[in-house]
Amino acid sequence: MKKILITRKLIYSSEKYASKIFFAKINTKDKLLTNSEIIQMSNDCDGILSSITDQLNEETISKFSSKIKIISNFAVGFGNIDINAANKKNIIVTNTPDVLTDATAEIAILILLGAARRAKEGIQWANKKNWKWSADFLMGKQLTDARLGILGMGRIGRAVANRARSFGMKIHYHNRSRLNKDLEKDAIYHDSLKSLLSISDFFSINCPSTKETKNIINSETLKYFPDGAVISNSARGDMIDDEAMVQALKSGKIFSLGIDVYNGEPNIHPEYLNLPNVFVLPHLGSSTIRTRTAMADLAVKNIEEFFKTGKCSNKVN
Ligand code: GLV
Repeated sequence: MKKILITRKLIYSSEKYASKIFFAKINTKDKLLTNSEIIQMSNDCDGILSSITDQLNEETISKFSSKIKIISNFAVGFGNIDINAANKKNIIVTNTPDVLTDATAEIAILILLGAARRAKEGIQWANKKNWKWSADFLMGKQLTDARLGILGMGRIGRAVANRARSFGMKIHYHNRSRLNKDLEKDAIYHDSLKSLLSISDFFSINCPSTKETKNIINSETLKYFPDGAVISNSARGDMIDDEAMVQALKSGKIFSLGIDVYNGEPNIHPEYLNLPNVFVLPHLGSSTIRTRTAMADLAVKNIEEFFKTGKCSNKVN
């Protein structure tokens, strides 16, 4: 039986499934393991089932036992793993695509709506109990007929587009390459980020975090937006330069921000918590029972497939 380290607690049924087919060392207390603990605990293992809270950098991976053949990440994003370092050690890295598309798109829409309709201020007023209805109370921005720019038209971007269409939004996008007609539907392709941003009354970030997309929303690119745009980020925190964003939110250049992911999680830029026009959630994108169970099962299956066949359909390197 192969031995695996599961670095974080999973859904119980998925832990049971993993324990049936592997000798699984499970972090049942769910304490965040340090990188040295991961190195030490995985020393006699054939694989690791990691989570986005594990920062598997070059130094850590270089110290992994040569027994380790697979890192199965419990996420679709794998920016927490140094892929070059894994390649050097002949370790395959896998992710959990598809199963979290719908749940993440739902959160993308929730934060877009939360930001546009001033949900944070609304909740604060409701809690104070002394709010009064008036014709101009907490007027927000309406999605109907507005242009939604989507950065990254992969599975999640397209799922966001489908939901946004039902609000009557006009879909625009920028992607590494243009989609074929079937996938594009009525969406309008922009071959440059500048062109997309300049029409984005609303904007949703749905691309992977890479060297190219790091700080892609910064003091320069924020200038391209129409005044009073609404931005949402349900992908990864490092795509936004937080200081530049805070300035744009304070000046009103950006009307509001809906955000579920942060630079240096679990830290959240203190101004995001202070500013009334930032609607924050603590990285809930894929957090539904159905999706987290499917992700955990898939992360286990990826390891099973790899040890059975020597390959894995969800390999990313
Ligand atoms: C969640 O953030 C994921 O990448 O799966």
